[in-house]
Amino acid sequence: MTIDKKFIDQFVNVTSKAAISSYQLVGKNDKVAADKAAVDSMRKELNHLDINGEIVIGEGELDEAPMLYIGEKVGTTNGPEIDIAVDPLEGTNFAANNLPGALSVIAIAEKNNLFNAPETYMEKISAKVKEKGVVDLDYSVKENIFNLSEYLNKKPENITACVMDRPRHKNIINNLNKLGVNIKLITDGDVSGALLVTDDKYNVDIFLGIGGGPEGVLASAALDTFNCIFQGRFLFDTVEDKIRAHKMGIKNLTKKYELNEIVKGDSIFCATGITSGDLVSGIKNENNEFISETLVTHKSSGMKKVIKKVVNR
Ligand code: FBP
Repeated sequence: MTIDKKFIDQFVNVTSKAAISSYQLVGKNDKVAADKAAVDSMRKELNHLDINGEIVIGEGELDEAPMLYIGEKVGTTNGPEIDIAVDPLEGTNFAANNLPGALSVIAIAEKNNLFNAPETYMEKISAKVKEKGVVDLDYSVKENIFNLSEYLNKKPENITACVMDRPRHKNIINNLNKLGVNIKLITDGDVSGALLVTDDKYNVDIFLGIGGGPEGVLASAALDTFNCIFQGRFLFDTVEDKIRAHKMGIKNLTKKYELNEIVKGDSIFCATGITSGDLVSGIKNENNEFISETLVTHKSSGMKKVIKKVVNR
């Protein structure tokens, strides 16, 4: 089974409209309002679509998120059964402070084909590699860089690694420094960070570190179409986290997930820019028309491109 191509345009529309809604609040120093605008819009647009959708990654569980909560059904029900992962505003700090890189993101797969990820941290690795065994979450930083260096036929000092600027990444960063690897530090937005390995134009060979689990699943959907490697391992700090994971059906809490265990079968991924960033430009308001740019992937057709669109609100 595949997801009909006709849905591509419909989901580009969903993330574009959410991006426009959030764009109105860019630079207002209000993360909550910018997020809410994107969530409200995304929910409204999803409910217009002829799909039988279920949110598997959303704004939290029903008690903490009245909209787009995990388990919420969306769409008219007059269409295919699909799993949906949403991050209506990825990079709340970016939007609140008018910084580059805020995105509105969605990923869809057929029913039961998208990992139902808990809202905990995830240890992640992605790389410009198709083969298994070159980079791996279980390898040391040194091993990963040496293997990648051989695979890409580049010296370690010509390799660039993207890492989020967090104290928890001190060891990773120290080890990369020792090896002479170039580091691209990002302050937020690791959906985008993980996707920088997808094209030589970004000049990033490997992404590694700990970020949000839901963001890991979203990035996986796009990485699948780009044929890049991704692995993730959830980190459960609290007893509550562990109980929640258990309820979601995760039995082995220390399991390393391969990309094909996170996203199976066909998928569509859309990330629309709210503010301009590495992947796409932000919303532009020209002569009272909004123009959006969306990075789109569709696994079964192999489509991976940036779509520019004039969007009517
Ligand atoms: P928000 O859009 O929810 O603010 O998330 C931004 C983000 O940078 C994600 O891309 C990343 O996965 C996560 O936060 C990292 O979390 P933390 O800031 O706690 O390190």
